[in-house]
Amino acid sequence: MGAAVTDVAVLGASGYAGGELVRLLAQHPGVQITHLASLGSAGRTLADVHPHLAGTPLAATELASVEDLEAVTAAAGFVFCALPNGSSVSIVPHLVEAGLRVVDLAGDFRLPAEAYPEWYGFEHPAPAWLDRAVYGLPELFADRIAGAELVANPGCYPTPVALGLAPLLALGLIAPGPILVDGKTGLSGAGRSASEAGLFTATEESIRPYRVPRHQHTPEMERSLTLATDQEAQVLFVPHLVPTVRGVLTTCYAPMTGNDTSEELTSVLADVYASSPFVRVLPPGGMVDSKRVRGSNTVELQVVADPRTGQAIVVGALDNLVKGAAGQAVQNMNLMLGLDEAAGLPATGLYP
Ligand SMILES: NC(=O)c1ccc[n+]([C@@H]2O[C@H](COP(=O)([O-])OP(=O)(O)OC[C@H]3O[C@@H](n4cnc5c(N)ncnc54)[C@H](OP(=O)(O)O)[C@@H]3O)[C@@H](O)[C@H]2O)c1
Repeated sequence: MGAAVTDVAVLGASGYAGGELVRLLAQHPGVQITHLASLGSAGRTLADVHPHLAGTPLAATELASVEDLEAVTAAAGFVFCALPNGSSVSIVPHLVEAGLRVVDLAGDFRLPAEAYPEWYGFEHPAPAWLDRAVYGLPELFADRIAGAELVANPGCYPTPVALGLAPLLALGLIAPGPILVDGKTGLSGAGRSASEAGLFTATEESIRPYRVPRHQHTPEMERSLTLATDQEAQVLFVPHLVPTVRGVLTTCYAPMTGNDTSEELTSVLADVYASSPFVRVLPPGGMVDSKRVRGSNTVELQVVADPRTGQAIVVGALDNLVKGAAGQAVQNMNLMLGLDEAAGLPATGLYP
């Protein structure tokens, strides 16, 4: 007899993150996809909405309606919710109450209730559920994730920021603020809905900041640092859209508390992540590159001390759809199910 295989559902399967979940889960040895659902694409086949997935055994599977929750509970024991921000919160509690375990990729369970009106523009309708959700950054919170019924998968920008800064902050090598974070993302970060601002004509050769200084990942960066270090961090975050498809690059400028060298700061990160399969800490002299991690679940980190200004510059790069979304969600599922943390996940990227 082989090992038990878990039945999983993907809600939002027609989206970019949902499609990436299907691509990864279709090759995962410990699970089988038994349910796919979306909103406007319900009734279409997987291959129709994602032609690049036509080679999977699920190609002819019709997407169900995401509103039919009975079909989800009948089909699966584990659910990935890859719906727009504000849409998961009305669905996830029903699924968890029905005994299913859930990883939510939206921002609906990542913050305290009082932050939602200011940063997401809605009053949180189920605040009691925020305490039941575990913030799912596997390298920092694996123990909490393992027993969780509901995991809030982190945002793409906060992931490299928290992984790079938390160990330095925990040891008091950098001050908790103000920490400046510059972010860059490719176009897939905004999902697959068409918009004028996302047209080729508008984005080719364009680099532009957006949501300055009001991006919803700002309080998530602060909260993840607090969860990891018990310190109140203050972050000023400015994201930029760059004309690539995949990739996130974050550059953090954090005030150093002492005179540590780049080598000393690097060795702190290297020690903390020595046994993490998906964190690659580059030695001094290297520089992270979002292209190298494309298609992989790996995050590259780099830290450089600048004694002239007293700043530590912490740079991180990941693929927003893999380590920034679907790959990290599968990593969380692996921990929740007691599987090998790296099962079904690529650590090497596509290059060139
Ligand atoms: N893209 C990224 O890089 C990234 C990274 C980290 C986290 N995330 C998060 O992952 C989630 C999905 O993002 P995405 O980029 O995959 O978005 P997307 O490409 O726009 O896909 C959204 C999915 O949700 C469905 N949907 C749309 N409106 C809905 C509603 N009102 N109620 C229920 N379902 C609805 C869509 O179904 P139809 O197509 O059938 O209408 C589609 O399957 C978001 O919360 C996002 O913040 C995305």
